[in-house]
Formats: sequence, structure tokens, C-alpha cells
Amino acid sequence: LRIDLIAAARPNFMKVAPLFHALHEESWCSLRLVHTGQHYDRNMSEAFFRDLKLPSPDLNLGVGSGSHAEQTANVMLTYEGACVADRPDLIVVVGDVNATLACTLVGTKMGIPVAHLEAGLRSRDRRMPEEINRLVTDAVADILWTPSPDADENLAAEGVPPEKITRVGNIMIDSYELMRERIDASGERSRLGLEKREYAVVTLHRPSNVDAPEPLKLLISQLKGIAARLPLVFPVHPRTRKNLEAFGLWPKLAEAPNLQVIEPLGYVDFMNLVCGARLTITDSGGVQEETTYLGIPCLTLRTTTERPITVTEGTNRLVTTVELVPAVDEILAGQWPHGRKPQLWDGHTAARVAADIRSRLLIAPPPL
Ligand code: UD1
Ligand code: UDP
Repeated sequence: LRIDLIAAARPNFMKVAPLFHALHEESWCSLRLVHTGQHYDRNMSEAFFRDLKLPSPDLNLGVGSGSHAEQTANVMLTYEGACVADRPDLIVVVGDVNATLACTLVGTKMGIPVAHLEAGLRSRDRRMPEEINRLVTDAVADILWTPSPDADENLAAEGVPPEKITRVGNIMIDSYELMRERIDASGERSRLGLEKREYAVVTLHRPSNVDAPEPLKLLISQLKGIAARLPLVFPVHPRTRKNLEAFGLWPKLAEAPNLQVIEPLGYVDFMNLVCGARLTITDSGGVQEETTYLGIPCLTLRTTTERPITVTEGTNRLVTTVELVPAVDEILAGQWPHGRKPQLWDGHTAARVAADIRSRLLIAPPPL
């Protein structure tokens, strides 16, 4: 069975890695690792291949940055060519980036089965490009691997036949468990002079937070207020950095006391910081999940989340910019739910995916 694993951007690499490691020594399948090239800076791409022990991609489509239409169309054109030249038997897409949608459309139109890992998540906010990617991907993909019961319910409500769905759990937890020893040994926290549980980690990259000057300015001023209570470390995403510079906000941030503005980190060093943090302030999908698993308070600067289980069972809360400072005070005063680990967030998701591929595509009895 020839399987294409598709990766495009930072949150994809840690979803593809456990699958790659679970499948690459199996005799019943062969893998082609495809990088669409959406993220290309060393610290947004190569660092993850190194940390997660992934080989260089078999194919790099080199699409780079661009508008949504450009990125989606360029992935479709180049990936269709790759499938014509060397047709896989199964395409595995992960997450909700533009390549997830683009490769799903290519595969389904060529009659190649497509499986989506992290299916069924919904924010119900169609202003988010990721929500469109999730909806379209799940409407046409053949196999839907979900992380949580809410995802199963969303798919059922959209009329997806139940036989397409297998709940496999959360693949991000597999990456963490695979790398746990190296994360503990990373030393990033000490390199930055931070004391365990005496700092917060900040990440921001959603267009709703960082693409317009006024909301971003307000956010920066709130972060400076928080830094007066608790040291902050902020690895800045390239989208955010570009905008901070364009809006003239970069010097204001870089010179703020008690606030370390740093380059994006590789997975191992980043997770070392998260593991030792008192709390996180974020708009990342992945960080909401990682903090729930680790039991670390997470303040998510969004009005909706496609990962509601991190709020109902985990340690996550959605906040607006002006609610940020009081929420940090609550956490520092010890008023925060401990949360619990959701079911099947256990480090064995890749094994369940591998078993599902086998039973669906290799050992399923032929239809009568
Ligand atoms: C993308 C995903 C988003 C995901 C995020 C994770 C889509 C629609 N968006 O958003 O779902 O949460 O990745 O990080 O697929 N840039 C660089 N170097 C890079 C990559 C990007 O400088 O290696 C800059 C470019 O100026 C680019 C901008 O960042 O225009 C935005 O990058 P893009 O990949 O379009 O979107 P993200 O915001 O990264
Ligand atoms: N991450 C990292 N270095 C950083 C910031 C994030 O390794 O400097 C990791 C972290 O594990 C996070 C993952 O990248 O869960 C997802 O990336 P991002 O927040 O960019 O995407 P999203 O999950 O929002 O789509």
C-alpha cells in the first residue's frame, strides 16, 4: 500500500511524525513524505524535521507564501502532477491548513482515497480560513479520524456516514510522549534564565489578533501589564513579527521589561518552556491541547475554539484582550480548575491509525 503523508506548516510536522514512525517499518506499506513548502524558514520547518527525527521529505512542492487562493491552487497543481507521475493508494492529510484542503481535493477528484487526521473539529466561525478547510475536507474525504467525541458529533450532524469515522485520539500527544525525555533534557528554560512555574509562554499568530494595528497594539499593552506581574517569554511567529514591524510596534515590544521576545523555537525547546510554565497565553490550536494534557492553565485569545474539550475537560479558557489581566491574576491566586486528560489522549493514536488503515484497506473483506 503506497501512502502519501502530507505536511505543510509548523502544526503539521508534529502530527505527521508519530504516523511516520508508526508506519515506516511496516512491511505492508511504503511512505512518501510530501512537504508542500508553506512554511520554509529554518525555524518553522527544518528544525521540526530534525527534532521529530523525520527524514528529508521525498517531495517538496515549494509553494511558499501567498494568498489563500495562490497557496491552495499551487498545492493542487503541483500535487496533482506528483500523483499523476506516481499514484499513491492512500493520501493522509492532517489538521486544517490550506494543504489539507488542497490535497484532499486533488485526491478525491483522482479517485484516490483520502484520510483526514484530526477530522470533525469545528469552531463554527467561518471567518477563520481553517474552518473552511475543515468543513470542505471532511465533506469529501473518505476516512475521518477524530480526536474527541465532540468531533464525532459534529460529523454526524453534518450527515457524514458513521462508517467513515474512527475515533483515534489526539496525535499531538503522541509527539509529546515520543519526545518527552528530550523535552525534559532540553535546557531551554535555564538558557533563558527562567524559573520553573515563574513565567508564562506567549504565542500569537491568528489573523484576528495580529493582522490589524489597533487590536495588536492593545494586546501588546496588556502583555506589558502582565509582564509586571510575571516574566513572559514570547517566541514570535513570522506573520506576527511582520505585522509588528509594519505597524511600528516592534520596538515597543522588544524593549518591554520582563518580556523576552525570541525567534520561533523548535518543538523540543518550545515544549520545554511550556512544561515549566505557570500559564500560557495563546491563540494556537496545538497549545490549547498540549496545556490540557499537561494540566497547565491556558488563556486562549479567541472568541471560539474548535477544541471545546480543552475548556470542558481541560485547563483552557477563552478570553478577550481586556479579560487577560484579571484572568492571569486568578491563575496566580490559585483559582483555576485542574482539568483532566481527555479519553484517548494517551500517546497511542498513531498505532490506532495504523490499525485502522490496515483493517480498512488491506484486510477488509471485499463487498458482496
Ligand atoms: C498557517 C496556517 C494556520 C496555522 C499556522 C501555524 C493556513 C490557512 N494557515 O498560518 O492554520 O495555524 O500556519 O503556524 O494554512 N512566513 C515566513 N516564513 C515562513 C512561513 C511564513 O516568513 O516559513 C510569513 C510570510 O510572510 C507569510 C506569513 O508568514 O505570508 C503567513 O504565513 P502562512 O503560511 O500564509 O500563514 P500562517 O499565519 O503561518
Ligand atoms: N510550537 C513550536 N515552537 C514555537 C511555537 C509553537 O514548536 O515557537 C509548536 C507547539 O507545539 C504548537 C505547534 O507548534 O502546538 C503548533 O503550531 P501553531 O501554534 O503555529 O499552529 P496551530 O496549532 O495554531 O495551527
